[in-house]
Amino acid sequence: MRPAYILGIESSCDETAAAVVRSGEQLISNVVASQIATHQPYGGVVPELASREHLRAIVPVVRQALADAKQTYESVEAIAVTQGPGLAGALLVGISYAKALAFALDKPLIAVNHLEGHIHAVLLEERQKGNHALQFPLLALVVSGGHTHLYLATQNGNTWTYENIGHTRDDAAGEAFDKIAKLLGLGYPGGPVIDRLAPHGDPKAVKFPPAQIKHADRRGRHDGRTIDPADDRPRFDFSYSGIKTGMLRYVETHNMRAAVEARHKALAAIPKPSLRDYLAHCDQLTLDLIASFQRALVDDLVGKTLAAVEACDVATLFVTGGVAANQELRQTFEPPGAEQGLPVYFPSRPLSTDNAAMIAAAAFPKFLAADFAALDLSAEAGLRLR
Ligand code: KG4
Ligand code: ZN
Repeated sequence: MRPAYILGIESSCDETAAAVVRSGEQLISNVVASQIATHQPYGGVVPELASREHLRAIVPVVRQALADAKQTYESVEAIAVTQGPGLAGALLVGISYAKALAFALDKPLIAVNHLEGHIHAVLLEERQKGNHALQFPLLALVVSGGHTHLYLATQNGNTWTYENIGHTRDDAAGEAFDKIAKLLGLGYPGGPVIDRLAPHGDPKAVKFPPAQIKHADRRGRHDGRTIDPADDRPRFDFSYSGIKTGMLRYVETHNMRAAVEARHKALAAIPKPSLRDYLAHCDQLTLDLIASFQRALVDDLVGKTLAAVEACDVATLFVTGGVAANQELRQTFEPPGAEQGLPVYFPSRPLSTDNAAMIAAAAFPKFLAADFAALDLSAEAGLRLR
C-alpha cells in the first residue's frame, strides 16, 4: 500500500498546531505555536484571546508543517482536524481552515476527537519504534488540563472504540496543578513549574486525606450512555476539590498570603524565570507544600489507575496528555507496572502536551475506513469519546 501523508490541525485550547504523519506511524513534521505568553498575565487561558491567536497563527503554522515535511498542500492525502472537546471559538478556527483546505484541494476531511488524539500519540510513537504488537485490553489514562479520564480501548480492524470507566468529578488534574501554582504565586501554566520544584521539597511534610467519592455520579456516565441501575461495573473516578481546599487552608493557617503576593510580583517581573529564580523565591515551607501536593495527586492518579488495571484485567497501559509529562508520575508508574508485568507507555514530552501529530495519527484508521467528515462539520465543545 502506498504511504498516506495526513496533515493534522489542532486548535482546541491554547496551542495552534499542525503536523504531517505518514500512515499513522511516522512523524514527519510537528509544529506547535504556544500561546502561553499571551495567557500568562491572566493566570489561565482566556478563550477570546485564544481564538484570536489561533487566527493569527494557523496559516503560517500549517505552511511550516508542510515545508518541514517537504510536502505541499496538493501532496497530502487528507486533512485531519480536532472537532472537540475544547473551546468552541478556538476549535472553530482549526475546523474552518481545515474545511477550506479540504474543499479547495478536493481532499477528504477527517474529524478527530482530541482525547482519541492523545491516545494515538502513544500509538504513533510505539509504531515508530517498531512496536506493533500491543496487547488488549488496553487502558488509557488521559490526564491533561481539561481531562482526567480512564478509557478502555478496543480495536476492531480500522475501528477504535472507547469505554469510559472513570473521570474527574470536578477539576482535571492539570487544572489542579494550574490552580495550586496560582494559589502559591508561581504563574501559569502550573504543571511544569511544580514538576521542577517538587524534588526540592519534602513530599511527606503535609498530609492530605485521600479523595473520597461517596455519592453516585449525578452527571451520568461520561461516555454518554445513560446509567443502567443494574450496571454495577466498578468506576474509578477522581476528585481534586479536597486537596485544593486542603492547600488553601494550609496557606491561610500558615499566614503565607504576603509571601505568595511577593513571589508572584517578583516572578512576574522576570521574563522567563529559571529554576534558580523559582527556588530563590520559595522558602522551604512552600517547597514542602509543593512536593506534598504533587505526591498526593500522583499517588491518587496511580492508585486509581492500577485499581482499574486489576479490575479490568488490563494488558497494556497508556498514560497520556499534558500531565503525562510529569516526572514523578512517570517514575511512580514504573515499579508497580514492572511488578505486575504490565507494559506502561508514555508519549515523549513533546507529544504529551497538545500537538497535531496525534490528530494526524488518530485520523489514519479513519482514512483507511473512508470515515470522512462532511463540509458542514462543526465544533463540538463537549464532544465525548466512545
Ligand atoms: O494536554 P495539554 O497540553 O492540554 C489539554 O488538553 O488540556 O495539557 C496541559 C496541562 C496543563 O494543565 C499543564 O499544567 C499540565 O498539562 N502539564 C503538566 C506538566 N506539563 C504540562 N502537569 C504536570 N507536570 C508537567 N510536567
Ligand atoms: Zn490535550
